[in-house]
Amino acid sequence: MSNPGVPFVDLSRALASERAELLAAADRVIRSGWLIHGTEHRSFETELARYLGVGHVIGVGNGTDALELALRAVNRDERRTVLTVANAGGYTTTAARAAGFRVGYVDVDPQTHLMDVSAAATAIDDDTFAVVITHLYGRAADVAGLRAICEPRGISVIEDCAQAIGARTVDGLVGSMADLATFSFYPTKNLGALGDGGAVATHHVELAERVRRLSQYGWADKYTSTEPGGRNSRLDELQAAVLRTRLPRVDDGNQRRRDIIARYAAAAPDGLRVLPAEGPNHAGHLCVVETADARALAEHLAGVGVQTAVHYPIPDHRQPSTARSEVHLPETERLTGRILSLPCFPELTDDEVDAVARGLTAHDL
Ligand SMILES: Cc1ncc(COP(=O)(O)O)c(C=O)c1O
Repeated sequence: MSNPGVPFVDLSRALASERAELLAAADRVIRSGWLIHGTEHRSFETELARYLGVGHVIGVGNGTDALELALRAVNRDERRTVLTVANAGGYTTTAARAAGFRVGYVDVDPQTHLMDVSAAATAIDDDTFAVVITHLYGRAADVAGLRAICEPRGISVIEDCAQAIGARTVDGLVGSMADLATFSFYPTKNLGALGDGGAVATHHVELAERVRRLSQYGWADKYTSTEPGGRNSRLDELQAAVLRTRLPRVDDGNQRRRDIIARYAAAAPDGLRVLPAEGPNHAGHLCVVETADARALAEHLAGVGVQTAVHYPIPDHRQPSTARSEVHLPETERLTGRILSLPCFPELTDDEVDAVARGLTAHDL
């Protein structure tokens, strides 16, 4: 039999092992006769809020909507600029532009690839009303450091937790440390739906109510729209029911992901740096390696049957749709062509993890 190789991701494995529970969750919804904004949605919001240690969670349609609604919710004056990083997939750029805001970029730290908070201090100007800090690859970013810079200037901080649910810091879980936090439940995330899903979390009741209104046509009450900029972005009952069955498994899944990354790190030769994901401040979402020639590594691994991916190949300010020739981010640009993501999901077998590790060791740099 031919070797099927190691997939970058394979959702069918979790779907197979969780099949009975998922069908039971779907059955609950079908029997209830209630498909939007019912008990599953409400219960999921309560359970996620409890898990995160925040007062309020609002389920929405996806993670990009969550960012857009969060930005709209904190924008209360004439300032129009959002700051973020340019190496995190472009979701904040998409969300900010959809809401009609300008986007400014902050360079990243060469060690962690996360926002360089000291660079944020210089990038902020009088037009800045919000900074979105992404917990990229699953690693908790320096939210406290950013808040110390932003709060005296009346600038809101939003955590993008799409890749980092369950990462813990001394200040609490990611998603509990800023004004607002956003989540994606895209199927490959550490907490994945059977389709699209997202959420916004906050300690502040007023912000929560604003996001809730914005997520449903600006309605304060049915058919009464009080919030300008409202739209329709809802987490449906089926997705909420699925997420409720999966939330209790997040911590175990994150630990398995960290263990896989540690195994790769131990096997990597000099010149190939596996970004560390050791402690609980990392959710292990992506295993990213940095090396001088990521394409050569990808080709080598493909040759031994290991699939890889790149997160992300083109920074926002170099995307054809949002190109900004005046923006220079030396560190972000330096990483282009140097990063590669390795297979990292809880259902990988030990043999598959070993095969990837052997592939790394055998790479001739
Ligand atoms: C860091 C980050 N932010 C936002 C998103 C957007 O989420 P969604 O695909 O649910 O819109 C994603 C994932 O796709 C992400 O990885």
